[in-house]
Amino acid sequence: MLNRVDIVDLVERYVRLKKAGANFVACCPFHNEKSPSFTVSPSKQFYHCFGCGAHGNAISFVMEYQGLGYVEAVKELADSVGMKLPEFERRGDQGAPKTDPEGPDLYEIMQKAEHFYREQLKGAPAAIAYLKGRGLTGVVAARFGIGYAPAGWQNLQTVFPDYAAKALRDCGLVIDGEGGRRYDRFRERIMFPILNQRGSVIGFGGRVLGDGEPKYLNSPETPLFEKGRELYGLSQARTAIREAGRVVVVEGYMDVVALAQHGIEYAVATLGTATSPTHVQKLFRQTDEIVFCFDGDVAGRRAAWHALDVSLPVLADHKTVRFLFLPAEDDPDSYVRAHGKHAFEQLLAEARPLSEFFLTELRSRVDMTTLEGRSRLIHEAKPLLKRIAAPALQLQLLKQVAQTSGITQEEAGRLTEIRGAAPARATHPAPVKGPDRAMLNRKLDRELLACLLAHPPLVREVPAEIVDVSHAEGRALGALMALDGIEELTHAVILERLRGSEHESVLERIGGDFLEKGMDADIAQAVFNGAITAIRTREPNPRIKELGEKDAKEGLTESEYEEFRRLIAEGDALKQRRTPPSTVL
Ligand code: GTP
Ligand code: MN
Repeated sequence: MLNRVDIVDLVERYVRLKKAGANFVACCPFHNEKSPSFTVSPSKQFYHCFGCGAHGNAISFVMEYQGLGYVEAVKELADSVGMKLPEFERRGDQGAPKTDPEGPDLYEIMQKAEHFYREQLKGAPAAIAYLKGRGLTGVVAARFGIGYAPAGWQNLQTVFPDYAAKALRDCGLVIDGEGGRRYDRFRERIMFPILNQRGSVIGFGGRVLGDGEPKYLNSPETPLFEKGRELYGLSQARTAIREAGRVVVVEGYMDVVALAQHGIEYAVATLGTATSPTHVQKLFRQTDEIVFCFDGDVAGRRAAWHALDVSLPVLADHKTVRFLFLPAEDDPDSYVRAHGKHAFEQLLAEARPLSEFFLTELRSRVDMTTLEGRSRLIHEAKPLLKRIAAPALQLQLLKQVAQTSGITQEEAGRLTEIRGAAPARATHPAPVKGPDRAMLNRKLDRELLACLLAHPPLVREVPAEIVDVSHAEGRALGALMALDGIEELTHAVILERLRGSEHESVLERIGGDFLEKGMDADIAQAVFNGAITAIRTREPNPRIKELGEKDAKEGLTESEYEEFRRLIAEGDALKQRRTPPSTVL
């Protein structure tokens, strides 16, 4: 498919390109800059930013720019060149809509309806007055495509002459009542179009003017619209999220719109549903920081706890989740209108880190004045801690839980069965089989590298036989071990020594991602021990094994043989450099 897509055409849809010799240049869409360092090469079908290092092909551009997953990006590209990819259509869980390729285009119908509602707003003074009364200007109304569904039962007939069409019901725009009478779902309501990440209308939220029940009426679930996956305002917020480096998640349509009205354009809302893991994943593809903003009341805290709960498995050590609780009488809309942008951003800056909310909330559930209560804390924490995917955060929290309940970290580690927490007790997870192993190996090596950068004296403790040079992280690990003789080995010295080598980018990425959040020597040691234990259970370099097997069966090509020899030689060299310490664990 990539050969049907021209990267210059593609990028040009989003970024203004200027010709510069054989290539095109622009200001980079992935970071803020004033002079262009973003280059697109038509001959290599590749982009590269000399400023921030972003690079890749058409698929990665769409993934990055639109915050899509691989499958969604491929689908998007295929659509853009008029190709159908039927095998993706079936994968509804991947976000590809389950539309019937033979049937009418539901997106087109939704877009027509949106256009109709927007036009209707112009002739509806009461609706305009309502929006004005809530402090909105025409610019912001246009940004969100806000419209109006007038009173009357069959207004959509004017845009859809075939009002009986099945597709209208499939879109959720009409309701078939008893006796077969069909009528418009949305009547006398302010209409908030809900867009997907590609900017297509997939649903609506309709608000009554003033008081009335229900306050909001949403589109039903349709082939285009799955509430639990979508976030209101994400399509409009994308650029601002990138610029701000964070996203704020609020509860209501009006909160998103009012925040934008006051210059905070990086807010999105769930659609009256609880935060889902998909929501969190979607947002983490766009940015490294999520601030959940909830009401300060009981319901708000419950919603926040739920958001915390679903975030745990999705967290990585370079991703942050924070919580902002507004004063009980406010929601973001009323707060920003009363106090302005600066005050709201001030609150955002003070939002509480996940770890803090986690601990306060747990403490409030037990009686901290009794021994029994304190030990219950650890049992409450256990299932939650075990679901945290980010190793450093997991250990940090474990440590804090231990402190709070007055036991040692080792004890806490044992009680929660968290790997790496109890250095004295090496657990042996089952060896991983199958294709995931290579991924796991790299992940473990990344963990090790992060620990070494955080606490360089650990290089002395890396057992040589665990080094797997078949991937970049493993090679970087080898390079770090070779620095072991240097006195005063610090993070900076490591980077300095390896500058210009192939390891530089690997280490920089890990260093930047992992360490900003701080990892003290204790935690580094614990994560390190855990990773070594896990690595010990992995098989020797699978590539060596694979090549060895091929050699025995059918012989190797010259280049394979070369690789085989190199891998073995490198492994040997590392082993000779040091006798593997047997006392690590
Ligand atoms: P206003 O400021 O009163 O216009 O609304 P809001 O956007 O602040 O909404 P609120 O905080 O009352 O509710 C948060 C979100 O829950 C809304 O944006 C809707 O998505 C959803 N919601 C609220 N009321 C209803 C309702 O009556 N029915 C449905 N289906 N959803 C609702
Ligand atoms: Mn509100």
